[in-house]
Amino acid sequence: MGLIVVSNREPYAPRRNEDGTLTWVPSIGGLTAALDPALQQAGGTWIAWGEERADIRAVDLPQEEPRYRLERLRLSEAEVRDFYHGFSNRALWPMSHYFIERAKYQGSGWRAYVNVNRRFAEAAVRSYREGDLIWVHDYQLALVPRLIREALPEARIGFFWHIPWPSSEVFRTLPWDREVLDGILGADLIGMHTPEYVGHFLSACRRALNAETGEGEVRWKDRVSRVVDRPIGIEVETFEQLAASPEVEEAADRLRRTLQTQILLGVDRLDYTKGIPERLEAFDTFLDRHPEARGRVTLVQIAVPSRERVESYRQLRTQVEGLVGRINGKHTEGGWAPIQYIYRGVGREELVAHYRAADVMLVTPLRDGLNLVAKEFTACSADGVLVLSRFAGAADELPEAVQVNPYSPERVADHLLGALNMPLEEKKARLERLRARLHESDLHAWANGFVRELAGE
Ligand code: ADP
Ligand code: G6P
Repeated sequence: MGLIVVSNREPYAPRRNEDGTLTWVPSIGGLTAALDPALQQAGGTWIAWGEERADIRAVDLPQEEPRYRLERLRLSEAEVRDFYHGFSNRALWPMSHYFIERAKYQGSGWRAYVNVNRRFAEAAVRSYREGDLIWVHDYQLALVPRLIREALPEARIGFFWHIPWPSSEVFRTLPWDREVLDGILGADLIGMHTPEYVGHFLSACRRALNAETGEGEVRWKDRVSRVVDRPIGIEVETFEQLAASPEVEEAADRLRRTLQTQILLGVDRLDYTKGIPERLEAFDTFLDRHPEARGRVTLVQIAVPSRERVESYRQLRTQVEGLVGRINGKHTEGGWAPIQYIYRGVGREELVAHYRAADVMLVTPLRDGLNLVAKEFTACSADGVLVLSRFAGAADELPEAVQVNPYSPERVADHLLGALNMPLEEKKARLERLRARLHESDLHAWANGFVRELAGE
């Protein structure tokens, strides 16, 4: 029995070195961060869009053992524009995160979405051998389960939706609501991060399709799909070990010595769902209210560029850069600047060193399917405080975090003061309880559990 994973984003992208050879660089984002270690353990085939050097059709990855096979699909310029930047990231992404005013529902995008979903499904069907399990991922590929089902009626097909599933009131603004639901219901097992998302999904099936639903299941077209909440975990031990390694300790020390202040940290893809401008405003309010904190606390914001061909993302970049400039201009004094803004992805070791050095981690999305950064920080920190938005899917699992409403920069500023002044013992006690929760269900338990459920074990 083999495993076939299908996602839009590929786990590694080829970059050409000066000597002409290629290096496969890990992609940044929650889906690939989670699935790559899972597939390394299970082995199998991963089908994804080959963004760069699409002439390389298949490759064994990662470059060292244990490996799996990556099959890369080439998409045309028009497909990338209409399917990826268009329907996926201008319609489904904003709608699912409750930003309906940003959603653009265009027929050309929908048609490209259908065609590209068909190409992914055909690739999966070509790879399939009897007894294989097929696991399709995320909002870019919602039609793939149905399309595979039509070609392979007996196949075991799983689907995981990594982002929020919004209230059916919002979902039904989508002109193709029925088609998307029908596509997903081609799967035997459908996973989401929280019970709320599952509830919203079931209600959409009832209201848009008039389908019969029961406790965690939908009956549709003479089949039953199970719908389960299975929040994704991280490789807790790997993060813990890396965080305690001498190299990381040294890098974290260097960071603390350079800044010489308490450190607030933000780590995100530069996405409007992450609440970065609101976070910066909260910090500005905090400095206005507590002038004594000047020179004593620095916000390090690491933002990796994302989806830059979509105008909302370009506008966000301009907005964030403007805010960083304004706030630094207003508060900088005596060689200290309040915000250090890093506009790029950083490697794993540097990332973990930042987690380790941070006094307070600010994870304040306006809406987020789960948020792995919150879990990664929890695994790495020795005595830091996690400030977490109540609108991150991970909030239910992490009740000992300081939970905030990111829509209120003033309230967040209040919580910042509390977090910066929290007694050491309380910080350690909270982290210990949070860490215990991470261990209860780590990444491998999540992936193996889903695959076993899919296999009917
Ligand atoms: P999303 O799925 O929306 O990208 P998550 O928080 O769930 O958000 O996952 C993001 C992943 O990408 C995490 O594994 C995190 O470590 C990584 N990441 C995010 N921003 C950066 C960055 N600036 N540099 C390096 N890694 C990053
Ligand atoms: C989120 C989505 C993933 C996506 C990732 C990065 O985690 O759920 O499907 O891969 O963001 O976004 P990108 O558009 O670069 O693939």
